[in-house]
Amino acid sequence: MQREHWASRLGFMLAAMGSAVGLGNIWRFSYVAGENGGGAFLVLYMVSVLIIGIPLLLVEVSIGRKAQRDIVGSYKKLVPDKPWFMVGYLGVLATLLILSFYSVVAGWSLYYLWGYITGDMAQMPLDGYGATFDTFISRDYAPVFWHGLFMIFTMVIVLVGVKNGIELANKILMPVLALLMIGLAVYSVTLPGSGEGLAFLFQPDWSVLKDPAVYFSAMGQAFFSLSLGIGTMMTYGSYLSKSQKLPGAVVGIGVMDTLFAVISGIVIFPAVFAFGIDPSSGPTLVFITLPEIFYQMSFGNVIAVIFFMALSFAAISSSISLLEVPVAYLMRAAKMSRKAASLLVSIGVFISGVTVSLGMGRWSGVTPIGNRNILDSMDYIASNVLMPICGLSMALLVGWYFNRKEALHASDLNNNQIGGTWYLLIKFIAPILILIIFLNEIVNV
Ligand code: PHE
Ligand code: NA
Repeated sequence: MQREHWASRLGFMLAAMGSAVGLGNIWRFSYVAGENGGGAFLVLYMVSVLIIGIPLLLVEVSIGRKAQRDIVGSYKKLVPDKPWFMVGYLGVLATLLILSFYSVVAGWSLYYLWGYITGDMAQMPLDGYGATFDTFISRDYAPVFWHGLFMIFTMVIVLVGVKNGIELANKILMPVLALLMIGLAVYSVTLPGSGEGLAFLFQPDWSVLKDPAVYFSAMGQAFFSLSLGIGTMMTYGSYLSKSQKLPGAVVGIGVMDTLFAVISGIVIFPAVFAFGIDPSSGPTLVFITLPEIFYQMSFGNVIAVIFFMALSFAAISSSISLLEVPVAYLMRAAKMSRKAASLLVSIGVFISGVTVSLGMGRWSGVTPIGNRNILDSMDYIASNVLMPICGLSMALLVGWYFNRKEALHASDLNNNQIGGTWYLLIKFIAPILILIIFLNEIVNV
């Protein structure tokens, strides 16, 4: 069978940006930054994106394009005689873990969207938005329903194939999301008391750098936000043909994704302080902050509908890229049809997501790792452990298994200063940094 391909390089860029920009920029970025002290975290995160993230993104896409296979298949094809493909399995596992909680959180976004459409969210609940949201996510059935609905949307798009539906939806909704975020940022900054939030985000308190966990979280956030290391970008890269040039596209994806995160910080933190919300309230942070903002604004309900629609689409363009990894794997390795593979994986993810959702309520006492609930544990393993390990392996493959000429060639770079710097980064600097940050955290656990 002929391998599917993107219609154009722009199609690839949109899909890859769609994968990168998602709940990670708004939901995850703001709560992880909030938990890790704000400004100093932001600096570490941006340094990770620049030194580790973008160079490795080029590595990952170029492996996919070269091998023209799913993640396990790519490793098998490029290194037939050694067990590198084991890394591929870790990548597939990570996409399953991430999708399990991603779709639960995206379900919360759908629930808000529906609430604003029907007008239920327009009224401030008696005990406030925060408490009401906590009650909602701890229920047994309602959040599971929205999680299931979101998985159905994701499955249908992957089942049909990525080209038409998602490319078009992204073309319209990503600019809408960007405009809305910028508008909200301007609004948020004018809230009384916003200065404290801006200071939290932009005046680093360097004392948090004593804690190794902050480096670890910043690196994990960079990997998560860039969809890096676990085969998403490799699989998308495998639908590229050799004639399409990579470096510019990859830098564009990285810059765009980081901008979205910074802007969403400018939306969230002024409001967090203006409304007296605790910046370290964890995964529920944006879901209690945003309704407060919308409540204060004129036309807030209309804007909220558009916002949660755009956020839900941003989430879908990421979730389909997550689902595509195991689906592409099964299509090749188990010779399943796209339909059967999408259905099978979606059902599995739905079930595993149910445990995540129950973990916010009935099973909140279940803490597999440290004092983390099910969502946080899956996220920790996938984003902070599996993503950096898989990313490290990619860097080692291209930096050490390929020779310099092959590495540069695979990534469309020349043997000039840019190519040389990139090669230095992926061969030595990124792997060493990943290892140091990693060991530092493990030793301190
Ligand atoms: N990068 C996506 C986001 O920020 C999440 C994601 C992670 C998507 C890993 C694919 C793979 O929302
Ligand atoms: Na992102």
